[in-house]
Amino acid sequence: MAIDLASLPLPASADASKFVDFGREVKGVNPGSLSPEQFEEVKEALYKHDALLFRDVNLTPEQQYALTKAFDPQSESYGHGNNKTEGTKKSILHPDLKTIPRVPQVQLIGNGTVYNHEGLAEAMLKHPSHTTFHKTRVSAEEEAKGITRFYRWHIDAALYDLSPPKVTTLYGIQVPKGNRQTCRYDDGTGDELDVPLGTTAFVSGKTMFDILPKDLKSVAVRSKVRYAPHPYVWMAPAHALSTGLGNRERGIGVAASEERRKVLPVVWKNPVTGNLHFQVHPCGAAELIVDPLPAGASREGALYPDGAHLTDLKEVRGLLYKMQRPAIAPSLVYPHDWREKDLVLFHNRGVLHSVVGAFTSDQVRADPIGPTEEDVKAYA
Ligand SMILES: [Fe+2]
Repeated sequence: MAIDLASLPLPASADASKFVDFGREVKGVNPGSLSPEQFEEVKEALYKHDALLFRDVNLTPEQQYALTKAFDPQSESYGHGNNKTEGTKKSILHPDLKTIPRVPQVQLIGNGTVYNHEGLAEAMLKHPSHTTFHKTRVSAEEEAKGITRFYRWHIDAALYDLSPPKVTTLYGIQVPKGNRQTCRYDDGTGDELDVPLGTTAFVSGKTMFDILPKDLKSVAVRSKVRYAPHPYVWMAPAHALSTGLGNRERGIGVAASEERRKVLPVVWKNPVTGNLHFQVHPCGAAELIVDPLPAGASREGALYPDGAHLTDLKEVRGLLYKMQRPAIAPSLVYPHDWREKDLVLFHNRGVLHSVVGAFTSDQVRADPIGPTEEDVKAYA
């Protein structure tokens, strides 16, 4: 049976003209038992639409792992944490991750204590919150009124040694009921976004690239990012900006092999559509290497026409922020309104995402993050 695609419900805040191709609900198939033909259709839809939603799905961790792995059979991994580089207590990801014993590639994330889940007798989960990561925070009084922030805009990737996973799967097991929240940017723009409690927010890397002015597009296509050594340890104490789009303070030095540090293009080409997606994890970026303009290109108004190697962290972050901030404007964010048994697949090489909001201790939630790619190599 062919798969059936329907538009995702957009919130009133979204500029629908910017979401024409973004996101689809997939109907008529069980993602836990796709035929090879159905899988090929799902895969193509994922690269075309960057995020796919399946509703009312019953999925075991084994099925979730198999589905995620099918997108890149050569590799076994997870993007959120791995034992060697991110599982250390010093890593900022450490408190957020609990693995399913039977299928360690699948991780449980959420808030509160979960009992007897897939072999975990008791898991104490803590929903990450901006209050521990940002330089400034929403006051406790405002938080009580439902004001919150984006936690951290990111790509799921170790950004050290391993290649970024292609696909991440998120499966909503338990979704607490609660009032909607107001996600505030607190960056002087007055921007804010009405969001469901505990949403996962997505922005399109394609849109991030498409809306850049010509001079910044030119820099983007000519640039590579050099990531910090062990970025998640590095960024842990480097308090973030109020938009969650990068850090304000310096990271801490970590002993690392220089050649295993990742150098990745700023713009990634979608293998199916050929579109370009601006894909930078702003918190881990340490340097920018800009190639000179190609022969014959107009130098008029061009930035870094002869190329550059930017190593000043303030300059690197300033330039990236200038290029990325427009794309997290409220009208360009898709905040997923989780229902129980929702399965979301997203193109990790085509979008940025962020946890949003804050739960009180009685709002229990548990989403396992499916495996993405390269990291199991680090376990082996
Ligand atoms: Fe993530």
